[in-house]
Amino acid sequence: MQYQIEKRDPKSSARSGKIFTDHGEIPTPIFMPVGTVGTVKGIHVKDLEEEVNAPIILGNTYHLYLRPGLEVLKEAGGLHQFMGWNRSILTDSGGFQVFSLSERRKLTEKGAEFRSHLDGSKHLFTPESVVDIQRTIGADIMMAFDECPSGDAPYSYAVQSMELTHRWLKRGIEQFKKSNPLYGYEQTFFPIVQGAGYAELRKRSAEYVASFDMDGNAIGGLAVGEPEEVMYQMIEVVNAILPQDKPRYLMGVGTPVNILEAISLGVDMFDCVMPTRNGRNGMIFTSQGIINIKNEKWKTDFSPIDEQGHCFFDLHYSKAYLRHLFVAREMLGPQIASIHNLSFYLWLVSEARRQIESGCFSTWKDQMVKQLARRL
Ligand code: GUN
Repeated sequence: MQYQIEKRDPKSSARSGKIFTDHGEIPTPIFMPVGTVGTVKGIHVKDLEEEVNAPIILGNTYHLYLRPGLEVLKEAGGLHQFMGWNRSILTDSGGFQVFSLSERRKLTEKGAEFRSHLDGSKHLFTPESVVDIQRTIGADIMMAFDECPSGDAPYSYAVQSMELTHRWLKRGIEQFKKSNPLYGYEQTFFPIVQGAGYAELRKRSAEYVASFDMDGNAIGGLAVGEPEEVMYQMIEVVNAILPQDKPRYLMGVGTPVNILEAISLGVDMFDCVMPTRNGRNGMIFTSQGIINIKNEKWKTDFSPIDEQGHCFFDLHYSKAYLRHLFVAREMLGPQIASIHNLSFYLWLVSEARRQIESGCFSTWKDQMVKQLARRL
């Protein structure tokens, strides 16, 4: 994997650049749609390519390991082949999901024992096994196995958890270095900074992560219940230490405003379930603000879903029609909302990129954050 910075914003830490994997070029800043089980819920790969314009999507080690399982993925020739997606894939390591989804999990030095949320079966994830699993999935970018403590974790817990994540990271990198890709294209491995809401732990974690000099680095453990201000402070502390010349990935964040603020703090990559999960519930993100499409007020509003939108559906269908689909619980409603929201998120990061390149990012961002959070 290669990364090159193209432009830096004079008034903030924002930068534009490009990541190159064997599955193509990824302009940064970038938003990666979440495709947990080998599908971005309800969206064909053709629409992901042509309407959403996504150069990279996310998959999940925990889910893919449980279903369809490694035998199927291996026989398919990896996840790209299996799901018919020829662009890049990043897989999360499963750390986060083991802690949020599985039952009766137990953390040890060795790894995490857990029971499947699907059938109660017992499994063990170790820093080494999640590298092997991600080799089998065939992700272009694989993530380290980490523990993500909650936003209000006490200091003593946060220290222990971070130190365990660091020991796991060392083992993960060793496994990464001694294993090989299975399908003939390159795979890379990103470490994850932890440290909860404590600046001194974040600093230690960023220094440890930076010492491995990997192709890119991630910031985890944010947007997990801490105040937004704390999240921004932690990003600032960490980005002052992570190498400038490597992409920085903020995991699981966030709202359109969070994304613009984090870009201005020097983050390059994002993922979040918000555009798809909230979209399935009728929340529509636009450059003018947020629409609850189920609201009575849209009942006879025959204007386009988003006059300034960028996908086919935005001008083709009206707000009244989309509201009707939601009220009637038709499956097309959540599909249109998901494609619209993803296309909006991908537009937002591409516009941020354009503004960085023209030297106007900061002014544009300040104006956008006022609009984006409005409720229409
Ligand atoms: N997704 C959102 N936050 C995190 C995190 O801290 N770790 C991992 N592995 N995935 C995440």
